[in-house]
Amino acid sequence: MKSKKKWGSGLALAALIALTAACGNNGNNASNSGGDASSAPPASESSSASPSASPSAGASSEAPAGKTITLGFAQVGAESGWRTANTKSIQDSAKNAGFELKFSDAQQKQENQIKAIRSFIQQKVDVIAFSPVVESGWDTVLKEAKDAGIPVILTDRAVDSKDTTLYKTFIGSDFVEEGKKAGQWLVDKYKDASEDVNIVELQGTTGSAPANDRKAGFQEVIASNPHLKIIASQTGDFTRAKGKEVMQAFLKAHKDIDVLYAHNDDMALGAIQAIEAAGLKPGEDIVIISVDAVKDGMTAASEGKINFIVECNPLLGPQLMEAVQAVVDGKEIEPRIVTKETTFTSEQAKEALPSREY
Ligand code: AHR
Repeated sequence: MKSKKKWGSGLALAALIALTAACGNNGNNASNSGGDASSAPPASESSSASPSASPSAGASSEAPAGKTITLGFAQVGAESGWRTANTKSIQDSAKNAGFELKFSDAQQKQENQIKAIRSFIQQKVDVIAFSPVVESGWDTVLKEAKDAGIPVILTDRAVDSKDTTLYKTFIGSDFVEEGKKAGQWLVDKYKDASEDVNIVELQGTTGSAPANDRKAGFQEVIASNPHLKIIASQTGDFTRAKGKEVMQAFLKAHKDIDVLYAHNDDMALGAIQAIEAAGLKPGEDIVIISVDAVKDGMTAASEGKINFIVECNPLLGPQLMEAVQAVVDGKEIEPRIVTKETTFTSEQAKEALPSREY
């Protein structure tokens, strides 16, 4: 039921942990030189080469002189502001590091990513990196890369493969922790609630690591208060259009929504349109929590339309290029590299917005 409840700020700054246990190297030094994109790439694949290595991406240049490292990167798609910033970070950092980047956009389809990875194997790239659209179903293609002697690096999203020798490292956020931060803010806000608080949840892409983990982390934390009830939960596929569509359906089906938890800013922004169209005030009539902290999300937060944002940092390019260089150089690399992230209330978003990079 709808009611005004007292709330506290409940902020948690997340610390980062890069886990231990260095792993060996299967680095393949047989790099292609200079932008040879002769094998047919998937439709949305592009290739760019930068002639000289530069240390600005943080990668040391110990590859054999005259060799350009070729990196094949299979991106999820262009579903969100976060993804756009992530793609730019990877492209800019590859250029800065002097790597040839073969970039493929999978348009949110696992089969396209698998095709792209196979194409990179055929083209004998030095390293393959990708952000898996979903967690399951990667073992076969990862084994093909391993058999071809091409090291693989996961960025942003994890796979559920039991065989962790199929990839060198996973660089990205702790999505469970992000869900917990969102949940903790809500627990603190409604600590004195004496009535049920009705929550609707917009999940990310079904089967993706961020959707699974942000849901799990959130649920775990809000379980401490039996008044916090998820009354509806559905995927919005991390897009603004779907976020709006699903929120419209939620509003039609439930007259008593207190809180929206959206797994990313884009879905929250779509939902805000639906909430306003229904004559309600986002951030007041319905409390909104989201994840990412991209500029559009931060703008909505600074206007009070989103109450709390958990940051998910898309600027993974520099760390990825460092890892690529280390793998090629035969250096040890941490099997898990966790991204540094924080959280923002509306007030904090207002302060941070002018200097926001993405
Ligand atoms: O994997 C990261 C998630 O993917 C971001 O939170 C979301 O916006 C993106 O599409």
